[in-house]
Amino acid sequence: MMGHDAATIAQMRDIHDLFVNHARITRTVTNVPDGIRTVTESDDPRIAQLLKDHVVTMRQRVDVGNDPGLPIESDALHAIFKNYEKIETTVETTEKGMVVVQTSTDPETIAAHQQHASEVTDFVTDGMAAMRTAMMKNASSMVPHGMHGGMMRGGPNARTGPDARQTSASVDVWRYEYDLSIVECAGRRRSRHLRVIACQRAASAAEPDA
Ligand code: HEM
Repeated sequence: MMGHDAATIAQMRDIHDLFVNHARITRTVTNVPDGIRTVTESDDPRIAQLLKDHVVTMRQRVDVGNDPGLPIESDALHAIFKNYEKIETTVETTEKGMVVVQTSTDPETIAAHQQHASEVTDFVTDGMAAMRTAMMKNASSMVPHGMHGGMMRGGPNARTGPDARQTSASVDVWRYEYDLSIVECAGRRRSRHLRVIACQRAASAAEPDA
């Protein structure tokens, strides 16, 4: 969780909680010509509150274009942060969750919202498996050296990635394998520990011309 402030870390923990409790969440999405209408709810009052908190805090971030830059974020989500001024959002809370309507006059922004709404539905349907799928999609742009963010980059399945490290005589390409362990803490919060579990030099090449 390196590189993120306390508020972001708390938000990421809440998102993780939503993934873990995905089976307690119901969701319907209606695509309309200029955007989306979603209904997301839970019979569990704690999860319903978590959903409301998530949407409020994420809306606050989007409203100022404050992209947390998490490894799990899709291109659609980045587009939403980039085009935050082109989005109209209304959130109506219900007893068990909320109804969100998001519209835009910009076709790219409409498409991004419809795509993101569908991704959230995948998260609700498949939980952690969908989280891992989303991260794998982003793996090609991954830069594991320094493991920026760390959170949600790993998972029960170990991940690997290349890391170029330059020495005075050559450029060595290292391959790291790392894993994420999830720990119950005080009965509810889970903390994640990203750890390197293997490291191997994958290639070595002569130093390129400057
Ligand atoms: C089980 C996991 C998740 C659930 C249930 C969930 C739920 C929601 C819901 C209901 C909305 C309102 C918009 C809509 O209904 O489509 C929303 C918005 C949002 N979510 Fe999530 N989400 C999850 C995971 C994530 C993740 C992993 C991120 C990554 C940072 C994220 C970031 C956002 C952002 C930035 C918005 C605001 C989008 C906007 O206002 O345009 N969510 N989420």
